[in-house]
Amino acid sequence: MIPQSFIDELLNRLDIVDVVERYLPLKKAGANYQACCPFHNEKTPSFTVSPTKQFYHCFGCGAHGTAIGFVMEQAGLDFVEAIKELASSAGMTVPEEKFDAASRQSQTKTQDLTDLLQRASQYYRAELKRSDIAIDYLKKRGLTGEIAARFGIGYAPADWQNLAATFPDYQTKSLVEAGLVIEGENGKRYDRFRDRIMFPIQNQRGHIIGFGGRVLDKGEPKYLNSPETPVFEKGRELYGLPQARQSIRKVGKVLVVEGYMDVVALAQHGVEYAVATLGTATTPLHVQKLLRQSDDVVFCFDGDTAGRKAAWRALENALPQVADGKRLSFLFLPESEDPDSYVRAAGKEGFEKQVAQALPLSEFMLRELAARSDMQTQEGRSSFLLLAKPLFTQIHAQALGLMLRKRLAEMAGISQAELEALYQIKPVARSRAPRAKQERRPLTSPAKMLLRCVLNQPALGESFSSELLVDGNTDGAVLAAVLEFIRSHPQIKGTAQIVQHFVGGQYESELQLAAGEILGWGEDYDIQADFDGAIAALREQHGKRTTRALDQKSLTEMSLEEKQQYLAAVSYKKLDVLRQKADDLDNGTKS
Ligand code: UTP
Ligand code: MN
Repeated sequence: MIPQSFIDELLNRLDIVDVVERYLPLKKAGANYQACCPFHNEKTPSFTVSPTKQFYHCFGCGAHGTAIGFVMEQAGLDFVEAIKELASSAGMTVPEEKFDAASRQSQTKTQDLTDLLQRASQYYRAELKRSDIAIDYLKKRGLTGEIAARFGIGYAPADWQNLAATFPDYQTKSLVEAGLVIEGENGKRYDRFRDRIMFPIQNQRGHIIGFGGRVLDKGEPKYLNSPETPVFEKGRELYGLPQARQSIRKVGKVLVVEGYMDVVALAQHGVEYAVATLGTATTPLHVQKLLRQSDDVVFCFDGDTAGRKAAWRALENALPQVADGKRLSFLFLPESEDPDSYVRAAGKEGFEKQVAQALPLSEFMLRELAARSDMQTQEGRSSFLLLAKPLFTQIHAQALGLMLRKRLAEMAGISQAELEALYQIKPVARSRAPRAKQERRPLTSPAKMLLRCVLNQPALGESFSSELLVDGNTDGAVLAAVLEFIRSHPQIKGTAQIVQHFVGGQYESELQLAAGEILGWGEDYDIQADFDGAIAALREQHGKRTTRALDQKSLTEMSLEEKQQYLAAVSYKKLDVLRQKADDLDNGTKS
């Protein structure tokens, strides 16, 4: 754990404008800076960096965050790595004692293992140059030396202890831990990969974490992979990501295929935005990673039964991750084709034509569900609804969910309301009538507005009482948490520190959304007016709640203070109620 105080101090010292400029040139635009967004493809700049709020926001794709978040996204680092990177650029040292001996040890181990793998990879690449049969094989598969080099493809010769030449200490435990060497029962050691074409697998940062090795001819297994090691976890890695990254950004799309050779062959033909899972199903972690790369993810599966099954697994794991504004689709190639064979026959253009026709997730899902039920009978349609339910309840994306429920209801021959009742889903609120007057921006609840004001000027938070907030209301709860944080951290000056504090917590998305919105406020924006307005609205709501409670009480039951409060709050509309209360009082005293 890095102490929060260190993170606050770091954000205090850094200027997000400097940090972003290390990666892309910014242009001054009013009070803010702008650039074309590095996280999606665009021609006119909508990526905005605010020096006063120390926050970035893209009005095109919605990407947003602090300097830390930016470095994580841009450089593909995790949180701790990004902090270290930024700290060293600011001449600060991340507090040492926070990294206990165990985690320091595991860090050096990781480093050792990736170093070993890197050295092994260099060896395999050198061996490829010396092996005519391996070179011939790759040529036969249509690969040029350039592409082989781009993916670091190598060759492991046929002997049992080739690596002993590169690693004089062939007996070291680390070689076994790295998955390069196997220790037999008799204690004898030998290379895991022998007489195979070697595909190094890199993590997001370009470190080699494992290998896939293919036999040259026939032989089992066709691909031998590194075992799971401390640095290699198949369910979270995507083959080819470092090589594809730039193209994914440029094209605005990422293609997910099944095989190493598919990725390499696609790149050979100019389709450079493909990555592959590592012979495993697509996991939720994969989907998360993919959606961080691009808003447009196309899964490409072989056109056979196994391919359809794999696609369905991917869909199940993707559903909870999908957010509105993201596009997931599924491409099925003709039977007995894979992306490698298809792109070789049809070329880049032909292949991309297929990509353009990929089935949207919703389409694939409904089609597949309908295919599993007999839609001609009542019973079939009700089993269709039953099959669909567990999938539907996982969808958090509102617009997508709504649209899918509409279609599903239609297909099952019931109304949307009936479907929602059946699935116990809260219907989406009916759209309100259009407002007569265009507001400066959409009306929000007073608590929402206050949150934005306080994020903008934390000092405002010191001046009002949380008593005005209603319990159990999310907007109020977020605001109360922020107020609490500001009050207990009087040194906090900026939006970024507040937002950063809540990263990973319950209110993260609300805060990021709010912070993004206030970037759109010009410097001349009258925050005080909004603040006062929101406070007045809260007071009024609070007053209404109190009088409503007092409506239930008779005047004799009220304390003097309550009576004063009631009389002050009571409007002419309530005069009748008051008169009634007075009558009750009269009758009470007379009798
Ligand atoms: P495929 O059998 O579809 O191979 O396996 P491929 O990618 O088309 O390869 P070529 O064209 O025959 O050379 C797809 C992926 O499944 C994993 C590998 O990751 C492979 O890229 N796999 C396959 C294994 O891990 N082991 C195997 O024995 C086979
Ligand atoms: Mn293939």
